Amino acid sequence: MQYLFELSGENPELALEELAALFYPSKFVLIKKFDNFVILESSLSEIKVKELAERSAFLHSAAFLVTKLKSLSLNELGNVKWAFVKIPFCVRAIDLTGNQMSMLEARLAGPIYDYFVQKKDGEIPLVSMEKPKTTVLFVITNKEIYVTKMLWKVSKGRFKKREPMKKPAFHPTTLKPKLARLLVNLSRAKKGYILLDPFCGTGSILIEAAILGCKPIGVDFDAIMIKGSRKNTAFYNVKARLMEGDATKLTKILKPNSVDAIATDPPYGRSTRIGAKNINVLYKDFMSSAHKILKKKKFVALLYPDSINAKKLMNKKQWKIIFETSMFVHGGLTRKFLILQKR
Ligand SMILES: C[S@@+](CC[C@H](N)C(=O)[O-])C[C@H]1O[C@@H](n2cnc3c(N)ncnc32)[C@H](O)[C@@H]1O
Repeated sequence: MQYLFELSGENPELALEELAALFYPSKFVLIKKFDNFVILESSLSEIKVKELAERSAFLHSAAFLVTKLKSLSLNELGNVKWAFVKIPFCVRAIDLTGNQMSMLEARLAGPIYDYFVQKKDGEIPLVSMEKPKTTVLFVITNKEIYVTKMLWKVSKGRFKKREPMKKPAFHPTTLKPKLARLLVNLSRAKKGYILLDPFCGTGSILIEAAILGCKPIGVDFDAIMIKGSRKNTAFYNVKARLMEGDATKLTKILKPNSVDAIATDPPYGRSTRIGAKNINVLYKDFMSSAHKILKKKKFVALLYPDSINAKKLMNKKQWKIIFETSMFVHGGLTRKFLILQKR
């Protein structure tokens, strides 16, 4: 089966890696990439793909690819097997050609409407823009037209309630919920997984992990931060195990090979206290400590400033690099995403 995804324009490379992480351990074949869209071949069902997309942070939409057309002629549109459409339906079109056609969506709805009229089995071909049972999404490029069945579409403001300023315990280092969600997904954490954030601060990653059905554990060596995490998790009515502890000595508080995923944004070494001789020692000792408590073949998703060379600080015999990329934040800060797998 083929699926079409619209990736966030903010960082399509990260969005594609999030897709790979969401699909994991299942794999897909990348068939095509254009603008912010990708077409993937996968054996996963439509329901499963919809579920994965709903969890995402950096996807805009997911759709099942029904067919490809060469043109929007009435003949080609009339030959599409519209039986997948449930009424009431609606039509959406994304035109990437630049030749904006007027009333495009209404025109494209015509052949679908006709299909139901010709069926003459009593179904009235209703259209509903608000509550359609099927949304037919056309993505129009200069070469091909993709006819798809929309499975999921991002809703604006879905993270609004959990923005840092809305949290009862706020700290300048509090991570935005969208990035926290991304990190959880990049760590390949699934429902029921024990996910550790060893530098949990006020708990943004823990909250997203709990919402996604993980069992989060938060560690921070600052008692005030742990108190903040307690307040915030209670406010959003989610559960997390919280512990005061040192991320460079995790075996003191956690059993070896007991954690399924690690997602974290360690200190940047600017204003926060770090509990180590310097920032490099902190990262080095944390990574060797994390290696002990993480299960074999499981993943760590890290977010940190690009002034830190985390790759140089880790033991390459212990970790395999899965993915890395940078994200510009502002003049003084570029963040790095790094995903590692325990060997
Ligand atoms: C960048 S902040 C994390 C922010 C967090 N993601 C949030 O959304 O609130 C880094 C945290 O690491 C904690 N920290 C610093 N050194 C630590 C260490 N050695 N062990 C555990 N926590 C430490 C700091 O107290 C701080 O809360």
